[in-house]
Formats: sequence, structure tokens, C-alpha cells
Amino acid sequence: VKRDDLFPEYYGGNKARKIVYILEDAAKRGSNALVTAGSSVSNHARVCALAAARLGWKCAIIVHPDDFGADPALNPNLEIIRLTGASLSTAELSEVPAAMDAQMARLRAEGYNPYYVWGGGHCVQGSLAYYQAVRELKAQVEEQCAAPPNFIVVASGTGSTHAGIHLGCFRFLNGCTVIGVSIARQQARATPIVEQSVRELAAHLDQADPETTAVNVRADFMGRGYRDRVPEVDALIPELLELEGLPLDPVYTGKAFFGLVCMARRGDIAVGSRVVYWHTGGLVNLFSSLPLTTT
Ligand SMILES: Cc1ncc(COP(=O)(O)O)c(C=O)c1O
Repeated sequence: VKRDDLFPEYYGGNKARKIVYILEDAAKRGSNALVTAGSSVSNHARVCALAAARLGWKCAIIVHPDDFGADPALNPNLEIIRLTGASLSTAELSEVPAAMDAQMARLRAEGYNPYYVWGGGHCVQGSLAYYQAVRELKAQVEEQCAAPPNFIVVASGTGSTHAGIHLGCFRFLNGCTVIGVSIARQQARATPIVEQSVRELAAHLDQADPETTAVNVRADFMGRGYRDRVPEVDALIPELLELEGLPLDPVYTGKAFFGLVCMARRGDIAVGSRVVYWHTGGLVNLFSSLPLTTT
């Protein structure tokens, strides 16, 4: 398990790893404020609020109301955002772009230089963070393992983490198959978005030929979608804690790990394969009493 839940900033996770690279770009542009959006259980929004607080920057977060419930008292990510003093407002999903533009304008009018962070940290810097993280994994594998992995399994949401690992493996761990377990989008929608992120990252890195192996997205382990609580995942969370002391969350990492278990049982990942499960964090959501929908 690649434990990015233990990434040592902003309560960890892939969004913390991504924001380090996003902030580098923001700093280059002389920014001193962040504007972003997310669901009410968004780890990315929490990471942005904490990162801005650390830097002494302003931060505006737009949350779209959803079935998870927008009550900060029930939702630790929102509660952390509230405690950082970030400005927290809500907008229907279709209104989020306009609400972000309005926050950008407000901050500019107040004399700040705000930086627009796409929801989920979905941008080339986010993918770059994971491209570089594959180098880190490679070094760890060389130090700790007899042989490199045949598979990496990771939760895929906006797809930029998946894209960075995909191109990173092409470059640094060739022969390793990366499988993104979608936690929200159906395969037909998710795959071209990951492919697009791979192309953008390759262009950013001046890699003229981004012809990598096919992008693998599996969309059959998330129940009916992002907001759906999957009973098998709910059962797997305590099982993994008991067996391995490994914490997973119900929205992202639990579903991805469930995908890994199913693929191994079905033989999609053959017996004897060397597998890295890339843990993307999000454990704050394990400590909520979220009114998630049940099937
Ligand atoms: C814990 C966790 N894992 C995985 C993801 C997916 O990351 P990405 O949006 O880069 O696909 C997210 C965010 O959506 C997340 O919060």
C-alpha cells in the first residue's frame, strides 16, 4: 500500500500532494488567495482551506449542497474549513462556475490576487504531482521490494491523480498496469477525461509523444455513484481495520479497495501479481456521521 493517507500536510491524501504543486504555480503568479469548489465531503476543499491558512492567504470555498448534508457539525471536512476562517458559501452545481467567478471578482475588488483552483484540484499541476510521486514509489519499491509491481490500483474521481500515475508508470515503471477505480463517473465519461489529462501532462512535460498504453478505468465498484453507500464497502472498512489496521473511507478509498478485492477474486488481477494499492487518503470522512444514502 502506498500510504498517501499519511502524506504529511493538511491531513494528508492525494489532494494534499496535489496542492503542493498547485501552490507552486499560484506563488509564481503572485497569488495570495485561493478560490475553489467541491462537494460537502470534499477533501480537496479542506486541503485548500488549510493550505491558504498556513500561507496567510484568503480562501473562498463554494460547496454544492448534496445528499451528504451541508451541516458542518456532521461533516468534519466542512467543520475544518469553517475553523480555518475560509469564506464558505453554497451554490447549486449548475451555479458553481458563476459563484466561483463572483468570489474571484470579490477578492480582486478587495485588493487580493486570487488563484482559481478547479474542483478536485483537477489541473496539470495535480497530475504532475502524481507523475513525480511515481518516481518516489519507484525508489521505495527498489528499496523495499524484490520486484516492481504489475498493477497499481487507485481511486479515480476527476482523473488527474490517475493520469499522473499513468504517465509516470509509462516513464518510470514501464510494464505496470494502472487501474483507476472510478468513484463517480461511468467508464465512457471517465476514460476520455483521464486520457485528456495524460495528453495535457505530456505536453506540459514537453514529451512530444504521449502514446502510452490504454487508460484503464473500472466503474463497476461505486454502486449507483458518488453519493451511494455500498454495503460491501461498509463491510470492508471494519474488516481491513481489524486485519491490517488499514483505515479506508466510504466515499473514495473504500470503493477503490473494494474494486481491487473484486478484481483479484474475479481473476482480472491474476494470482501471484504484485499489486500496489495507492491509498489516496480522505480519512476525515471516516469520522463523520454522514447521512449517506443506502441501497
Ligand atoms: C480520498 C480521495 N481519493 C481519490 C480522489 C480522486 O482524485 P482525483 O480527483 O485526482 O481523481 C479524491 C477526490 O476526488 C479523494 O478525495
